[in-house]
Amino acid sequence: MLFLLDSANIKELEKAQEIFPLAGVTTNPSIIAKENRNFFDILQDIRAVIGPDRMLHAQVLGETCEDILKDAETIRSRIGGELYIKVPVTIEGYRAMPILKQRGYKVTATAIYTPGQALLAAQWGVDFTAPYVNRIDNISGMGVTVVKMITDLFSIHHLSTRVLAASFKNLHQVNEISLAGCQAITVGPDILWKIAEHTLTDMSIHQFQSDWKSVYGDGKFVYNL
Ligand code: G3P
Repeated sequence: MLFLLDSANIKELEKAQEIFPLAGVTTNPSIIAKENRNFFDILQDIRAVIGPDRMLHAQVLGETCEDILKDAETIRSRIGGELYIKVPVTIEGYRAMPILKQRGYKVTATAIYTPGQALLAAQWGVDFTAPYVNRIDNISGMGVTVVKMITDLFSIHHLSTRVLAASFKNLHQVNEISLAGCQAITVGPDILWKIAEHTLTDMSIHQFQSDWKSVYGDGKFVYNL
């Protein structure tokens, strides 16, 4: 299962990429707006940090098929590398998906709340579908179950579209989703650090250090015994 960072903050990205095995970055218009600077500068900066081979998912804003296609073309002309155009599963979004695929784009169908939406997008041959786990949970919709249904559907119907689960607010959702069979998840920096760290780990290390120092002294490690 691939881990992506759901953020457009360059400092957070640089810090996370140095430590965690990130497969790429996802953004959406809200995440971009939070940075409050030029859209293309943000995407180019992300690309510069992650390099050409890691995935960058960037979302269109157009509300008609024509505008979605123009947005996609503009993004592709400005941002190189492994680029995925995120297209919401609106009626106009569904209309745009097969055209984008015919034109050679990699496409992520996004803002997915139901298995049916994912199945329709997958049949247009999109590369990823992005169901919103926490937002589904917020309406008592059982986000993990929806993701599991989508991964099962793709398997049953031999669809090569991958599932990129998004929208997480706690580690329970992440743990459950890791068992749901999706190929990738995208999490914000706060969740990523929470996955990695544990107070009991820190306490264990503290105890090890203390026991060691009581015998071998301060500043003594294996290499300078
Ligand atoms: O990228 C879309 C998804 O991450 C939304 O997440 O946390 O705003 O529900 P959230």
